Amino acid sequence: MNNRMLAEGVFFVGAIDWDRRLFDSLIPLPDGTSYNSYLIKGSEKTALIDTVDPTMTDVLMGHLDKLEIKKIDYVIANHAEQDHSGSLPHVLRKYPEAKLVCSPRCKEFLIELLMIPENKFQTVNDKDTISLGNRTLEFIHAPWVHWPETILTYLREDKILFPCDLFGSHLATNELFVTDEGRVYEAAKRYYAEIMMPFWSNIQKHLERLKGYGINTIAPSHGPVYNRPESILKAYRSWVFDEPKNIVVLPYISMHGSTQKMVRHFAEALTERGVTVKQFDLTETDLGKLAMALVDAATVVVGVPTVLAAAHPNAAHAVFLANALRPKLKFVSIIGSYGWGGKTVEQLSAMMPNLKVEVLPPVLCKGLPKEADLKALDNLAETIAQKHKENKFA
Ligand code: FEO
Repeated sequence: MNNRMLAEGVFFVGAIDWDRRLFDSLIPLPDGTSYNSYLIKGSEKTALIDTVDPTMTDVLMGHLDKLEIKKIDYVIANHAEQDHSGSLPHVLRKYPEAKLVCSPRCKEFLIELLMIPENKFQTVNDKDTISLGNRTLEFIHAPWVHWPETILTYLREDKILFPCDLFGSHLATNELFVTDEGRVYEAAKRYYAEIMMPFWSNIQKHLERLKGYGINTIAPSHGPVYNRPESILKAYRSWVFDEPKNIVVLPYISMHGSTQKMVRHFAEALTERGVTVKQFDLTETDLGKLAMALVDAATVVVGVPTVLAAAHPNAAHAVFLANALRPKLKFVSIIGSYGWGGKTVEQLSAMMPNLKVEVLPPVLCKGLPKEADLKALDNLAETIAQKHKENKFA
């Protein structure tokens, strides 16, 4: 048996990128990634689901050669981003009879991004189907996971969902199916936090809709395949539907120790009040870990010194990121030390327009924190603990 076979006649033909360490020149990939492409043989037609990053086109073509694929009838582009579409031009040259199947919006993107000729396309609407003979592909429009053009492909007879980025994980492994659920959960949560979280309310609707489909297998475009899909479906349901938890995320940076002293005191005060603290030193934090912590947190408190009359740039970067990722936060505050003044609070507060949060009174002090400043931190911790309790954040 081919060890890359999801079901009889359904093959993984993608590429594992063990060495990639950055995605979009932004997102850390501590465990590499994969670009999953799948080949489906029907009794009459053959379809390829997505391609791979253009840096690894040769791997995809090698897999197709090994399977002795002489003709592909349909190439399905679930999503136009180049890590899945980048090898399309090469595939379409090698298999010139293939129709490129995608949403109308995806067609626009692919023409712009890859200059694919108009006559190659066959666009599909929501719920359209294509027959491969004894197998049927159904297309489910699922905009904003995480681009506006995305579709999910459902292989009806085998009950396999090909959701592209949705449910994916940046994890390089040559195990086709998930074996270590804990490890994949962490990688999928990181992926969700970095890529999908800004669209959590859209994903709520898509998850509701997917309840109408029997799904035995989820074959995403990154990371291993879920042959027990309930684990990832349950995780996603928790991430997008659950209320935030009794957690304060505390990203901070300190130049001469004053802000650090405040952060330590504050973390202790929260701990005494039963609030979970996730603290991140922004001089060395993996931003993916910070993003993961934001998935469940009810509150963020930024520890920030003032530099040149404004927030330290690393703290500003963290706030910019939190605003972009739109987590389900409810409360935000700022603590930190300054030398002679500045606009740190005003600056950071103006950087959070996407966050539907209550801003709790900040605690700023001049130089080292004094007794009154430490008392103010205790009061802030008490306020947060009470707010979490009132909202039943557990
Ligand atoms: Fe894996 Fe949005 O591309």
